[in-house]
Amino acid sequence: MSQSDILIEGNERNIREGVSERRGFLQFCGLTLCSVALTAVPLASYVIWPSFKKETGRWIDFGTARELEGDNFRMLSYEFMVKDGWQILPQRGFVWAKSNPGGAIKVFSSTCTHLACNVVWREDTQVFECPCHSGRFDPEGRPVAGPPTKPLVRLEHKIQDGNLMVFLNV
Ligand code: FES
Repeated sequence: MSQSDILIEGNERNIREGVSERRGFLQFCGLTLCSVALTAVPLASYVIWPSFKKETGRWIDFGTARELEGDNFRMLSYEFMVKDGWQILPQRGFVWAKSNPGGAIKVFSSTCTHLACNVVWREDTQVFECPCHSGRFDPEGRPVAGPPTKPLVRLEHKIQDGNLMVFLNV
């Protein structure tokens, strides 16, 4: 075997070994990427995804339902914290509630259906009045004057252990 044959054979062996090393390296990278992806998907679903979720609603306890009996609606205020992504924000407002002699309870959102100002119950005229554009709603929440065309929103509620619980969208 001549010296040039020995050189050529050596070069071919080096090339084969180089290809084999590259193939091994690429397989290693592929396996690493697969394991990172397999770890990242569950991690994102447990840690990151919940931070983008926003609460949609919750039951609020407004206390003894018996106190709602009477001729007039009572303003019931609420304040609680709401998780919105990474933030925790305060949610404040009020609803209007009244219990009829038969025990049936009406609970209305205070939000005017025109442009979302807060309506106020007027004992003297027995209507809900909106201060923004003089909208008026009767005791059933129906619009009776001004620009609103939709009734006040009746809120889902229940009595639990004698207390009025109202479901509020947040
Ligand atoms: S917002 Fe209530 S009447 Fe316009």
